[in-house]
Amino acid sequence: MDNLKLLEEAKKARLKAYTPYSQFKVGAALLTKSGKVYLGCNIENASYTPTNCAERTAFFKAVSEGEREFEKIAIVGAKDEDNVNNMCTPCGVCRQVMMEFCNPKEFQIILADGENTCRVMTLEELLPSGFSPTNLK
Ligand code: THU
Repeated sequence: MDNLKLLEEAKKARLKAYTPYSQFKVGAALLTKSGKVYLGCNIENASYTPTNCAERTAFFKAVSEGEREFEKIAIVGAKDEDNVNNMCTPCGVCRQVMMEFCNPKEFQIILADGENTCRVMTLEELLPSGFSPTNLK
């Protein structure tokens, strides 16, 4: 799937974000190698630390449905609709979750970067020298 189309899916996911504390709404659209898209939003909690990021919601939904092979993820995040095309990079914990399932040289992170433009980064660029399952072998 085209990167801008995947970003549009992430924008749809963002509308479902549950953010009564930060009001910062994030949406993610995760594309599997078989062509399926899993959407995720951030889900906050009154106790704060149980908050789940949009990217992890998408990954956990997919993995819990048996998916293990991923091609790319599109991410958007903003408080207001007006800023939804500003770049929102994934947090460190989400990068680590990506590292569990994805080849860092191949897996692409698609970030909004202005209207109808995006920035594409590999997981390796966002998490250089990351710790992965291969380290445990
Ligand atoms: N958030 C995400 O959903 N993904 C990220 O990668 C960064 C942060 C959420 C968590 C929290 O609900 C809000 O954004 C503010 O940190």
